[in-house]
Amino acid sequence: MNRQLDLTNIPRHVAIIMDGNGRWAKERGQMRLQGHLAGLESLREIVRHSQRLGVEYLTVYAFSTENWKRPADEVAGIFKLVIKYVNSELKELCENNVRVGILGDWSAIPQDSRDSLRVLLDSTKDNDGLRFNIAINYGGRAEITRAVNRLMSEGRTNVTEDDISGSLYTAGMPDPDVIIRTSGENRLSNFLIWQAAYSEIVLTDVYWPDFTPAEYEKCIMEYQRRDRRFGGHK
Ligand code: IPE
Ligand code: IPE
Ligand code: MG
Repeated sequence: MNRQLDLTNIPRHVAIIMDGNGRWAKERGQMRLQGHLAGLESLREIVRHSQRLGVEYLTVYAFSTENWKRPADEVAGIFKLVIKYVNSELKELCENNVRVGILGDWSAIPQDSRDSLRVLLDSTKDNDGLRFNIAINYGGRAEITRAVNRLMSEGRTNVTEDDISGSLYTAGMPDPDVIIRTSGENRLSNFLIWQAAYSEIVLTDVYWPDFTPAEYEKCIMEYQRRDRRFGGHK
């Protein structure tokens, strides 16, 4: 572990936009899907390292509501990788007391991937270690719209910020302290747009398949250098 990392100031909730798989593959003359496959290795290591560091909530962006615009074979391949991920990680996640959650409308994804995720959720539901959220067919605008519709269906005409927060997929969880985005892009791409109101944004040029625990620690150290004021002052 990096000696400059302050273990007394680890973010409770880390959110990650796992980006750059396609460019990583392209630079190697490989298919985009090879990049997504390589990204699974990074994900495994980052979940493990989040546990070592004492992160309580880890939320990763795996597939956005906009990613349906991609070629059908890439989309199908990504959902096959979801199954592969569950098959390879289920045992370790259970053993390590990780509780998995899904953010997003995953009813829209292929049945076999859904079945696989259902097993993952059911097998980890009683765990109380790291809370690991996977955002799949997730979009921040869709999430807020869904929350508003849920409140309206309850007959609500006047809602508070807490009502909306409590109707999002992240209900009951703290907002992310830090949102990390890999691959040098500088935007949220519809990720946690409500919850990000006071999140620190940390950007790294590293492509997701090259994102290591050491790089993760660097991002957390960058977060630790930030002065979080939440609109107030000292
Ligand atoms: C992120 O990598 C994974 C998903 C969006 C599913 P990309 O596939 O977006 O990789 P780039 O941005 O094209 O390099
Ligand atoms: C965001 O990455 C979505 C995920 C990482 C799942 P994109 O690659 O889809 O975002 P844009 O298109 O560059 O904004
Ligand atoms: Mg991308």
